[in-house]
Amino acid sequence: MKIIFATNNAHKLSEVQAVLGEAFTLVTPRECGITEEIPEEQETLEGNASQKAHYIHDRTGMDCFADDTGLEVAALGGAPGVHSARYATDGHDFAANNRLLLKNMEGVTDRRARFRTVISLILDGEEHLFEGVVEGRILDHETGCEGFGFDPLFVPEGSEKTFAEMSPAEKNAISHRGRAVRKLAEYLHALGK
Ligand code: IMP
Repeated sequence: MKIIFATNNAHKLSEVQAVLGEAFTLVTPRECGITEEIPEEQETLEGNASQKAHYIHDRTGMDCFADDTGLEVAALGGAPGVHSARYATDGHDFAANNRLLLKNMEGVTDRRARFRTVISLILDGEEHLFEGVVEGRILDHETGCEGFGFDPLFVPEGSEKTFAEMSPAEKNAISHRGRAVRKLAEYLHALGK
């Protein structure tokens, strides 16, 4: 099945392709001629995932899905949450985001955090939402160099390693995005797609 995944993030694309497998050909917005930044202006992950999927569907008419992810830190009242990409700056500056998170967590003993991903799928014009969550904790220094974003600071429950110390397959097996994408894949398989 050919489906548009509304991202131009190469890391995300390969993570999601690995979970979905070869039965699915993922097409990027750029490959469909959509080169501008896809708007995400909502105050919830659900709202942003939905806005991105509708943006693509309105312009292509094709089946598509979009995801939105936030890191929700308990001691920060759920921040950065939906603002994770632009936590420290206006751009997607992962290093600056990690520095700010470390600064805001200085001296904080409650290190609990979770990643939450919401996927909006538009299939035959109908929208469906899927969620994936992984609980964990925030370290007080960066460890590992795999992955992207907050991966070097996040240790998932039941592990001693950060996401940035894991292979893509190890991360996918337990990650927020892996869980949400498996729900999406099960839904599509059940429909015979
Ligand atoms: P997005 O909405 O999925 O692009 O995610 C927003 C921000 O959350 C990204 O810019 C990253 O900083 C962070 N993020 C999303 N997914 C991950 C992940 O799998 N690992 C680490 N950080 C992530």
